[in-house]
Amino acid sequence: MNIGILGSGRVGSALGRQWARLGHAVMFGSRTPDRLRDMVKSAGPNARAGTSEEVVAFADVILLSVPWTATRETVTSVMDWRGKVLIDAVNRLRDLPPVDSIGASSEDVAHWARGARVVKAFNTIGSEVMDQPVFDGDRAALLLCGDDPDAKAVVAGLASEIGFEPVDAGGIKMSEIVDHMTRLWIGLATNTPLGRNFAFKLLSRD
Ligand SMILES: NC(=O)c1ccc[n+]([C@@H]2O[C@H](COP(=O)([O-])OP(=O)(O)OC[C@H]3O[C@@H](n4cnc5c(N)ncnc54)[C@H](OP(=O)(O)O)[C@@H]3O)[C@@H](O)[C@H]2O)c1
Repeated sequence: MNIGILGSGRVGSALGRQWARLGHAVMFGSRTPDRLRDMVKSAGPNARAGTSEEVVAFADVILLSVPWTATRETVTSVMDWRGKVLIDAVNRLRDLPPVDSIGASSEDVAHWARGARVVKAFNTIGSEVMDQPVFDGDRAALLLCGDDPDAKAVVAGLASEIGFEPVDAGGIKMSEIVDHMTRLWIGLATNTPLGRNFAFKLLSRD
């Protein structure tokens, strides 16, 4: 699969490197692609760097992992999102919603990325855990929200490949609730001895 990364920082590089190692073709996007040279080299022969425009033209699935404050500009600078699966890992957290917000941050992203099939994912987990989502044989839960079942299946597959246990959390509206889990994760990471090397696990019975 051709995967693009918009925002190749902690989250983008951690996930993109894993997908490249697994054999996917990955293009890491940056405002200054040359600065990614070392990271791209370490990601192996399936990785390359490009501009945002090149990333979106190249990829079927695009991970959005920029700061919230850069999200609107990044997403609306893309001319044609039609058919692309857009994984939204962005957290709005303490940043204020825009005055014309239509709801949860992912609803805004879906509104701006007209035609994209948006799936909220990877936002309830620290970037360190993205490298190693398996804890003594237990796979960390990865909550996915989105309105397109096929897009969610694609993202669930990519999450599963790198060791997560995907959990379908419902439509994109549910991302507002899932965002509270991110706040819980950050609260635990900053106020308890857990630190950042933990993840949530979901237990259920048939
Ligand atoms: N860190 C975590 O543990 C974690 C976990 C889950 C979700 N998230 C969310 O994922 C997103 C990325 O987090 P991160 O920790 O990976 O951030 P980061 O390390 O700061 O990387 C963000 C990347 O976005 C790019 N970017 C594009 N426009 C930008 C702008 N105007 N200002 C600053 N950077 C810009 C930068 O790449 P270039 O300079 O190369 O363009 C930068 O490398 C955030 O929304 C965050 O809330 C983070």
